[in-house]
Amino acid sequence: MRPHAVKKVFQKTDSGKVIEIHKHVIGPQTKKFIDALSFYVVLIDKGRLLIMANRSMEKAYDLDYADIEGKPYTTVIGRSDGPYPGCGLEEVLKTGKHVTKDFFDPLTQKWMRSETFPSDLITPDGRAIYIHMAREITDLKEIEAEARQAEQALEVSLKKVKDLNAKIIETMGRIVEIKDPYTAGHQRRVASLATAMSQELGMSVNRIEGISLAASIHDIGKIYLPAEILSKPGKLTETEFALVMTHTSIGHDIIASIEFPWPVAEIILQHHERLDGSGYPNGIKNGDIVEDARIIAVADVVEAMSSYRPYRPSLGIAAALKEIGTNKSTLYDKAATEACIRLFKKGFALTDH
Ligand SMILES: [Fe+2]
Repeated sequence: MRPHAVKKVFQKTDSGKVIEIHKHVIGPQTKKFIDALSFYVVLIDKGRLLIMANRSMEKAYDLDYADIEGKPYTTVIGRSDGPYPGCGLEEVLKTGKHVTKDFFDPLTQKWMRSETFPSDLITPDGRAIYIHMAREITDLKEIEAEARQAEQALEVSLKKVKDLNAKIIETMGRIVEIKDPYTAGHQRRVASLATAMSQELGMSVNRIEGISLAASIHDIGKIYLPAEILSKPGKLTETEFALVMTHTSIGHDIIASIEFPWPVAEIILQHHERLDGSGYPNGIKNGDIVEDARIIAVADVVEAMSSYRPYRPSLGIAAALKEIGTNKSTLYDKAATEACIRLFKKGFALTDH
């Protein structure tokens, strides 16, 4: 085959430098070459006139090469006067860059993917040629639509599972309250305060979800304690208090077998630990206590002190805030304490809704 005729042209680069470029002049061999391609190919000049179309294109659009040469590409491909939606020529003319477009061709009723880009081809009279190629992607689009539908269905099921889990957790929380009516609502109020504190501390939505969940069942281990101890009006004996202290380990064991995306069992185990090691059950200190447990510990103390207990009246929110403020950094996490105090200063109120 006779090689393409080559023409040397001079072009200015972005930096203002003039360079010599070799342009290939199209001819009958160009048509032969593009005819061999199975996808659609059209050559268009800068003035938006059609120069050449390959056989696939001619067949699909019922065109005759002789008729289309020199006609505006929009009237031939799109059969409209405006810019054809599937062709990126207008964008290429503006930016000089390669443009890819997915579009539905109303004429052939097919989904297409087109590529439009500048080329180093020129017409025999020196006009720059832009190449526009398109191939059918209807199957691909159908697969994409099916995948989207499957994804949506999965999202719906996941939401159902999530809602069900939330209901189970809520029920677990309420079961403890049946046994221990004097602390009814305690876990929910602690959850509400711990959630607000976590938001105040700028934690991620996912992390806050875990803290809220753990807080709403943090006393679940109390289910194993005798109701007489839980609702005893007087001071607990040493033995009784030792029994109450087991609720953290029992709660941990109840929850440990459930797989959560957060360390819920560990948080429950550690919610009575204190920074100086004076807490229970393990007397661990500072950073050894998971941060989420340190936050819930503060919320737990504040809620417990400000609520009525069978053995004492409510001590009030002021006393609760004084307790955490006084023991900040020794018993209670500094950042969590400060966030809690800030919240009440801003008007936060304890609620179990
Ligand atoms: Fe507790």
